[in-house]
Amino acid sequence: MPRTIAVSGASGKTGYRIAEELLRAGDQPRLLLRPSSVVPEALQSCEQRRLNLADADALDGALAGCDALVIATGARPSVDLTGPMRVDAWGVRHQVESCQRLGIRRVLLVSSLCAGRWRHPLNLFGLILVWKRVGEQALERSGLDWTVIRPGGLSEREEGLEQEGIRYSGADQQESNAIPRRLVARCCVEALSTPASIGRIIEVTSSAELEPISLEAALASVQG
Ligand SMILES: NC(=O)c1ccc[n+]([C@@H]2O[C@H](COP(=O)([O-])OP(=O)(O)OC[C@H]3O[C@@H](n4cnc5c(N)ncnc54)[C@H](OP(=O)(O)O)[C@@H]3O)[C@@H](O)[C@H]2O)c1
Repeated sequence: MPRTIAVSGASGKTGYRIAEELLRAGDQPRLLLRPSSVVPEALQSCEQRRLNLADADALDGALAGCDALVIATGARPSVDLTGPMRVDAWGVRHQVESCQRLGIRRVLLVSSLCAGRWRHPLNLFGLILVWKRVGEQALERSGLDWTVIRPGGLSEREEGLEQEGIRYSGADQQESNAIPRRLVARCCVEALSTPASIGRIIEVTSSAELEPISLEAALASVQG
């Protein structure tokens, strides 16, 4: 029986790859989207739910029956500097609260390296790193089976990924370097099947110089 995994922000460049990787793993992604979100052609046949994240009833209806949620929403760069607060903090909190109401225990959040930092150039966009940490904390304090994945700078590169290893660390260990969104998506799907990832903040960047290893093996040697 395939698991039904909700992916919010599934129209985003990481979110749609997470949905694709879930399909590849034999799971059934359910796409949580805004009314205006545009979904790539390859995901048109997936279940879709369109809603406003602040609408608790709509969120409960969209998540009902799911086995897990992957949160890949994130404020898009804009002149509206309230986006990070609305999406990365309150939007995450609304999703976590819906999972608590519905008894959906497994929740994974795509956050960012340097979440929680006050002094950082990225904060010029609405204190985004501060609000991301508020979103992370809502999940960490939820009592759910949570995992936070904090990627470095995201790239669209799809080539050469099979030989590329991920540098995994605990919280606040990495502050630069990049990782292709495809590898972040694979890492999210792997985390869903890796119990050792529960209750962990996992920072990820990647390099062709690193040997690919499983998340489980990596977590056995990662502190924190
Ligand atoms: N860019 C980087 O280098 C970087 C580095 C580390 C971490 N991150 C974080 O990683 C995550 C994924 O990044 P990405 O660049 O792949 O994402 P992205 O392409 O910008 O996609 C963002 C997603 O969030 C959705 N969204 C935005 N505002 C929303 C709202 N008010 N309500 C509901 N959904 C909303 C978007 O929906 P629409 O399609 O409808 O707009 C889209 O599906 C984000 O949290 C981002 O902050 C990014």
